Amino acid sequence: MLSKVLLVSSPGKVILHGEHAVVHGKVALAVALNLRTFLRLQPQSNGKVSLNLPNIGVTQAWDVARLQLLDTSFMEQGDFPAPGPGNPPDFRKLGQTQSLNLVPGPRLSLGTSPSVLVRESHFAPACCRALPSLDITVWSELPPGAGLGSSAAYSVCLAAALLTACEDIPNPLEDSVHTSRWSEEDLQLINKWAFQGERVIHGNPSGVDNAVSTWGGALRYQQGKISSLDRTPALQILLTNTKVPRSTKALVAGVRNRLIKFPDIVEPLLTSVDAISAECEHVLGEMASAPAPEQYLVLEELIDMNQHHLNALGVGHASLDQLCRVTAAHGLHSKLTGAGGGGCGITLLRPDLEQDKVEATKQALAACGFDCWETSIGAPGVSMHSATSLEGHVRQGLGIL
Ligand code: MEV
Repeated sequence: MLSKVLLVSSPGKVILHGEHAVVHGKVALAVALNLRTFLRLQPQSNGKVSLNLPNIGVTQAWDVARLQLLDTSFMEQGDFPAPGPGNPPDFRKLGQTQSLNLVPGPRLSLGTSPSVLVRESHFAPACCRALPSLDITVWSELPPGAGLGSSAAYSVCLAAALLTACEDIPNPLEDSVHTSRWSEEDLQLINKWAFQGERVIHGNPSGVDNAVSTWGGALRYQQGKISSLDRTPALQILLTNTKVPRSTKALVAGVRNRLIKFPDIVEPLLTSVDAISAECEHVLGEMASAPAPEQYLVLEELIDMNQHHLNALGVGHASLDQLCRVTAAHGLHSKLTGAGGGGCGITLLRPDLEQDKVEATKQALAACGFDCWETSIGAPGVSMHSATSLEGHVRQGLGIL
């Protein structure tokens, strides 16, 4: 059983195209962000599992003896009881004793939401046969509830750390190495468990967010099939958080209802979003091998068309319209990313763009009350770190700084 401290991190994500459509079997193109969630797991001998979320001031502890451990068979059978809207599942039905959920809910993951609870559920050390006594601390650079995959990054870190602590997967970190990643097979298992965490939080997620957080880089995702986009140019993106809170679960349910109500209208929209993703993937491939300025014009057109489709699906918001207007006034093109309804938008930054134009756009967005960052995309997926390699982060996460 584990004897030393584990330090795990995983990235948030940005969806370039395909949000919502991906829930209905279409393609999503998603990339890992260079904003991460960190988890520190420390073995204990106090007979408890303790969860500490310093970003939001939550601390919770359970007696190890009272926790129910599950194996992975329910995942293979596909009979995991996904919670329905307004109908929280009775996870205790999964076992005779109390089971553990380290998933904050009902709204989202790490951050400032006061509604974060620690509920009972099936998740977390379900991978283990004998549950060790542990202290778990999680902190994040990702704003919660903003469409950047903060809940998925949380679930991925938790799954990776607990599977490692229970020796279901090896610790990939070798002596004298600062950061290591797991084998493909181990990543598959981490992703599977993280997806179950996402289901607890979001009800019926597509799985794209946890896949990007697990593998990192740039991915094409369709119905659980993940392939990495090998040939991608180094896109620069302005990421803007409108700070308007929203619920992914409610927005996904809203699109589903619209599809049921108007199938002949909504299905073609989803098909069109799928075609946008396909065109974008094609152009990104061309840009990587034979870059030409016209390709950015195509990417901008695709962004505009998709943003209109997302509005027609009912996941727009006045704040996102404002974001698009402000960036359009500076000659730039934007769309929402993630679930929409507020949250974040992305703006493509052409390589020929002068920095003072970018700064002017950022200032105009800040004047609307939005936060924005220039980001590079394609960060590495879930990773194990030596404590010394991230000393500053650990100290900050533990509130020592
Ligand atoms: C959320 O980041 C993306 C959605 O497509 C939901 C999902 O894929 O689960 C809106």
